[in-house]
Amino acid sequence: MGVTPPYSIHVASNLLGSLARYIDETHIAIITDNTVGRLYAPMAKDALAQAGKEFHCYCVAPGEQSKSLASFEHLLRQMVRDGFTRSAAVLALGGGVVGDLAGYVAASFMRGVAFYQCPTSLLAMVDASIGGKTAINMPEGKNLVGAFWQPRAVIIDIGTLRTLPTKAFRHGAVELFKHGLLANERLLESVRAEEFQPGGPPDFLIEAVAESAAVKANIVVADERETNLRATLNLGHTLGHALEAVSDHALPHGEAVAYGLYFAAVLAKNRGWKDLTPMVGDFLQWVQPAPLPTTEFERLESFLARDKKRLSDRLRYVLLRGISKPVIVDDVTLQEQQAAWMELLEVAA
Ligand SMILES: NC(=O)c1ccc[n+]([C@@H]2O[C@H](COP(=O)([O-])OP(=O)(O)OC[C@H]3O[C@@H](n4cnc5c(N)ncnc54)[C@H](O)[C@@H]3O)[C@@H](O)[C@H]2O)c1
Ligand SMILES: [Zn+2]
Repeated sequence: MGVTPPYSIHVASNLLGSLARYIDETHIAIITDNTVGRLYAPMAKDALAQAGKEFHCYCVAPGEQSKSLASFEHLLRQMVRDGFTRSAAVLALGGGVVGDLAGYVAASFMRGVAFYQCPTSLLAMVDASIGGKTAINMPEGKNLVGAFWQPRAVIIDIGTLRTLPTKAFRHGAVELFKHGLLANERLLESVRAEEFQPGGPPDFLIEAVAESAAVKANIVVADERETNLRATLNLGHTLGHALEAVSDHALPHGEAVAYGLYFAAVLAKNRGWKDLTPMVGDFLQWVQPAPLPTTEFERLESFLARDKKRLSDRLRYVLLRGISKPVIVDDVTLQEQQAAWMELLEVAA
């Protein structure tokens, strides 16, 4: 299933076996992590070898700490030593960590080479691999250095989800659910279905993943004309980022955003807009987030302030007037936020 060019997104079963079909270049740097590499690099290598491609495979340690200047430098130097030139291609095989790191390597090597994404986590399939943002972290903060670098193709082999731990699957599901709220009601049903799990029926998962990825791709493409649309992807992230920060990143991103989605639903309901709290509340239970890192809203305020956009000194929230009707508001009062926080505390208890 494909979506609007220039985003060529392929979603199917067994795509790793026919990987070479999507890659024009003949010298390929596969970048993966040890976990995903052990599971899927052999299949990717076989596919490339059979097509007569030359490749090198580089493995980083799994986890956020690999999105570092040190891994970035190591990979670039290794590619030079292995004889890669401007006609190289970089293939990211893994979750969002590998995708962000490999993408920045592709953007930088010899001033930029072809890039392909083969996302293997649900989060990377529906979110991180789409939109062309690449990044590494600095000790001073996450994603502080990077570039926009679009992949030539995003190749999603749905079969790789089978080995994804349930927790990671649920974290990716939060962004998929968010896409449902923003633009595609059917995704909200998919998430509630029994089949929605790592080992679920391939056809069912293919449809859900393709539709969710398409929501992000369409928003990103449309944003090139209509600015601010991309900002709606921040639904649930204003409070989410503050919760992550106050927990010193102990609370996983997906769980923090799940709380943030509920918080946004309460803010909208209290303005007299459509009440989505029952549905978002059910979803929050399904995610099974760790407890809230604090019960005091005051502790979040300084972190919320950091989310203020540069153009205005007001805090911006993405709220829903209804499903598929996001609006960006900058007039949410402290009282509204405190009231919504109390309601969040009740469902989180
Ligand atoms: N570029 C963007 O637009 C964008 C958007 C959202 C998130 N991100 C970034 O994505 C990263 C998070 O991505 P993530 O959640 O995929 O994390 P991740 O890449 O660390 O993957 C999570 C874990 O799952 C393992 N894994 C991945 N696929 C697997 C599979 N099929 N089977 C078994 N194990 C598997 C990985 O080895 C890892 O241990 C963050 O660094 C975040 O900043 C980027
Ligand atoms: Zn997110």
